[in-house]
Amino acid sequence: MTRTQVAIIGAGPSGLLLSQLLHLHGIDSVVLERQSRSYVEARIRAGVLEQGTVELLHKAGVGERLQRERLVHDGFGLGFGGRNFRIDLKRLAGQSVSVYGQTEVTKDLMDARLASGAKLIFEAADVTVSGIDGGRPTVRYTHGGASHELHCDYVAGCDGYHGICRQSVPAAAIQAFERVYPFGWLGVLADVPPATHEIVYSNHARGFAMCSMRSLTRSRYYIQCASDERLDAWSDARFWDELRARLPAEVAEAVTTGPSIEKSIAPLRSFVVEPMQFGSLFLVGDAAHIVPPTGAKGLNLAAADVRVLYQALVERYRTGSGELLERYSETCLRRIWKVVRFSWWFTSLMHKFDDDPFAHRIQLADLDYLTGSAAAQTSIAENYVGLPFERPL
Ligand code: APR
Ligand code: PHB
Repeated sequence: MTRTQVAIIGAGPSGLLLSQLLHLHGIDSVVLERQSRSYVEARIRAGVLEQGTVELLHKAGVGERLQRERLVHDGFGLGFGGRNFRIDLKRLAGQSVSVYGQTEVTKDLMDARLASGAKLIFEAADVTVSGIDGGRPTVRYTHGGASHELHCDYVAGCDGYHGICRQSVPAAAIQAFERVYPFGWLGVLADVPPATHEIVYSNHARGFAMCSMRSLTRSRYYIQCASDERLDAWSDARFWDELRARLPAEVAEAVTTGPSIEKSIAPLRSFVVEPMQFGSLFLVGDAAHIVPPTGAKGLNLAAADVRVLYQALVERYRTGSGELLERYSETCLRRIWKVVRFSWWFTSLMHKFDDDPFAHRIQLADLDYLTGSAAAQTSIAENYVGLPFERPL
């Protein structure tokens, strides 16, 4: 039997960042991860960080490589009707965003955690959580063929959408809200220079497309595809042709093609559970909510949960007061629903839902309105750079 203060299930960005921030404040944790280290480090995910996320990563002591290698973007483009309209984030919302892959964030956190001797257990199987309603939680798991038991004060469920933590809460105590979109994103990563300096989201009658990047020599492109699309139906040549067909001409002409180094399909969904706390279990990040990637909010939202939870745990251990912990779910959900709304709205504005020409005209009118309205542009910019926090860092 082992004891720790906080048992963290999942070594994605949420679990690693929480464990690192707790460590810097003298709070002990053990992280249990189902996959291997190399598997976790190789996952390709989104790549835009809000300023608030960058500040939290600095606070966690993992800002050095980020500061050096990130690309700072003061705006992004909206492609529609043959043009590429720029949303000036810096001027409209006073902030920029940082392009830096989540894969890199995960590596930096993993290095920092392992360098400070973290208790990080990879390939932990059959993880179960019990005693969360009685204040004496126990986490059981198997590792290397042996059964283990971990006693703790709190459990942080950082185990993503498919994790077991959310399922450990009695069904009657939790409510789920969900919207599944009738399409997915087909993504390609390629070592070619990006077509544009800034990210471009493009609305097109053939379906959505977007241009992003990981560096000045590595591009990330996506096109909307059917939910049940087969990856092997998409040769690189077919992908590049379809991408270019959906971009404004000036952007399409600037696309450099090349062999893909990764190609994958992701479904799009909005999902939220309420509440995010049950007894001594706290759900964090993708375990509690999913947003569609339009707007790049998934990782930023997870970091926002971690920020609230670590501050609450620090207060609890420092002063004995559980007040912030008790408000964890309420504090997080106020932000989450606003971000869920923004991600849903932006997805609805940019994607093709069906063949209804009326719906497409309405989207184009909405985009045209945006180009003439400072108020509408400010609204999208404020949401894109990240909403303000209740408490200072
Ligand atoms: N036991 C242990 N670990 C588990 C279990 C389990 N039963 N189930 C899942 N995990 C691990 C997964 O292997 C994964 O490493 O939990 C981790 C969850 O990580 P993520 O899915 O990346 O979720 P999170 O850390 O909340 O990251 C925030 O926001 O939109 C996204 O792409 C973004 O993944 C990012 C996320
Ligand atoms: C990405 O670079 O992978 C990316 C960028 C912005 C998004 C989604 C994904 O909105």
